[in-house]
Amino acid sequence: MKNYYVMTLFPEMIQNVVKESITGRAIEKGLMQVKAYDIRNFTKDAHNHVDDYPYGGGAGMLMQVQPIVDCYQHIVSEIGHKPRVLFMSPQGRTFNQQMAEELAKEDNLIFLCGHYEGVDERALEILEVENVSIGDYVLTGGELPALSMIDSISRLVHGVLNKDASHEIESFSDGLLEYPQYTRPAEYNGLKVPDILLSGDHKKVDEWRHAQSLLRTKERRPDLYAAYVAANPEEFAPPKKRRKRVHRACNSE
Ligand code: ADE
Repeated sequence: MKNYYVMTLFPEMIQNVVKESITGRAIEKGLMQVKAYDIRNFTKDAHNHVDDYPYGGGAGMLMQVQPIVDCYQHIVSEIGHKPRVLFMSPQGRTFNQQMAEELAKEDNLIFLCGHYEGVDERALEILEVENVSIGDYVLTGGELPALSMIDSISRLVHGVLNKDASHEIESFSDGLLEYPQYTRPAEYNGLKVPDILLSGDHKKVDEWRHAQSLLRTKERRPDLYAAYVAANPEEFAPPKKRRKRVHRACNSE
C-alpha cells in the first residue's frame, strides 16, 4: 500500500483529481491512499492566516513556518517515522520517469505544495525537503505538480494498471517514445492502418513498432535518441563482414 500525504491549502483540488479514473480505482482497491491535509487547519493565528509579508520587502505574501511545521509533525506522528518530503518548486530537480520509478519504491511520501509567492525558508529547512520541479515554467501553486507526480508514480505500483506489463512498453520505459497505435476501423476517410499491423505476423509487428519508436524518438526527442544510441551500441553497430576464406596458394618452391 502506497501512502501519499499532501500538505496544501487546497485539499479538495487534490481529492477531486485522484478520486477519478485509474488513481480512483487504485484507491478503491486499497492499493494506495492519498491524504490531503489543509495547512490552514494547523494555524495558531486568531484570524486563521497562513501567510504574511516578506521581511525585507518585496511583492506578495509568503506561507508562514508554524502551520507548515505543525501540519508536518502531525503527519509524521501518524506515520511513525519521517518519510521523504518533496517540495514542489520550479527551483527543484526536474521530475522524470527515472525519479518516478525511484519514488515508486517508497511506501510513504509527503508532498508540500506552496502557494502565494513562496514559503518561509525555515519551514523547508526543518522539513528537510527535496525540491522537485515538473518543468521550466511557473505555476500558481504546487498542487498540479504534486498531482502529476502522484499520477505517474501510482501507475508504476503493482496492480494499478490493468495489465501489469503495460507501462513497460510505453514511452520512456526503454528510453524511446511509443510507436503509433491504431484501433478499428481499419480505414477511416481513406486513411488506412498500416498493413503490417493487420498481418498477424507478431515478429514483423514487433520489428515495425521498434523501428517506428526509433524514428519518432529521433525526430521528436533527439536528446533521448542520442542517449538510447549511446546505451545500445550493439544495435547500431554495422553488421560484421563475413570473413572471406583466403585460399593461399601453396608455395611449392
Ligand atoms: N510550483 C510552481 N511552479 C512549479 C513547477 N514548475 N514545478 C513544481 N512546482 C511548482
